Amino acid sequence: MKSSYSLLQHLSHEQFISGNALGSALGVSRAAVWKMVKHCMDVTGVDIFSVKGKGYCLAQPLELLSEAVIRQHLSASCHDCVAKIEVVSRCDSTNTQLHRRGAGLDSGTILFAEQQTAGRGRSGRSWVSPFAQNLYFSMYWRSNLPIMALSGFSLALGVVVLRGLKELGFVQEIGLKWPNDILYQGAKLAGFLVEILGEANGTASLIIGVGINVKMDKLQGELIDQRWTDLSTINDAICLSRNSLAATMVNQICILQEVFSAQGFQSYREEWIAHDCFHRLPVDLFTSDGIIQGIEDGVDESGALQLIINGEQHKIYSGDVSLRIKGSLQ
Ligand code: BTN
Repeated sequence: MKSSYSLLQHLSHEQFISGNALGSALGVSRAAVWKMVKHCMDVTGVDIFSVKGKGYCLAQPLELLSEAVIRQHLSASCHDCVAKIEVVSRCDSTNTQLHRRGAGLDSGTILFAEQQTAGRGRSGRSWVSPFAQNLYFSMYWRSNLPIMALSGFSLALGVVVLRGLKELGFVQEIGLKWPNDILYQGAKLAGFLVEILGEANGTASLIIGVGINVKMDKLQGELIDQRWTDLSTINDAICLSRNSLAATMVNQICILQEVFSAQGFQSYREEWIAHDCFHRLPVDLFTSDGIIQGIEDGVDESGALQLIINGEQHKIYSGDVSLRIKGSLQ
């Protein structure tokens, strides 16, 4: 995969490169370049043209993630919060990788992957993660907060990801679905997997995993088991750089860590409710004990879902919410 990645780095300048020139840049023969090109197309799904007398060229422009470019876009206030940024071409899941590396990690370590082969979603689902089409990353944060103080963190994360998208010009009605989805017109745009690890001293560390669909290949999209969308569908007039999207999200998460540490979820609650896609609508709530029906009534100061059932308000602490429209499930 490493060789495919270097090949793509050389090809990403959007012009033809001869087999000879590519070979010398990569330190291999012309014949080996052809094999590398075929292998690269197989593992990444990226199309590479080969034209006699001209050489190789990418079929579509490709922007690879780069630690240096992401760093250039980070705001000064991130310096204390970001320890290390690593970009890998492929891994099983950025969350799983940070788990494996475990307690030795510096707080503020961020891992981006161009492709995940076993990307994880909530409730054991998978997260479809094709090469260089979307954004997948995880950040390790040693919070110094007790686990109890972290309720509502992933809801607040939704709020700051929305803020980041607005900052980049996505002013459309992108909304939130409890507990931590971002939707556009009912289709999933982004999701978070926040995993909390208790430390011996009673504080908690978090692995904050974020997946945002940027420009998903339609064939890959067929693997997703729910309605989905991506940023290029929402507004294709925005010429979005994945590196600046990455930096915008990191900037937002750094601010979140500071504000959440001081104030918890309460300072995000109003904004969450203002963007709640299902506010005051009839919903079906899927729980391990079955389906509960009620009227969605926002969230409380700890991030619990408020559901009106037979005129009484109930609080829900975990589950999957699905909007019911005129008696049919959607
Ligand atoms: C969900 O909505 O179900 C959560 C999706 C979370 C996906 C991201 S992609 C980066 C990180 N690594 C993973 O394996 N999952 C999260």
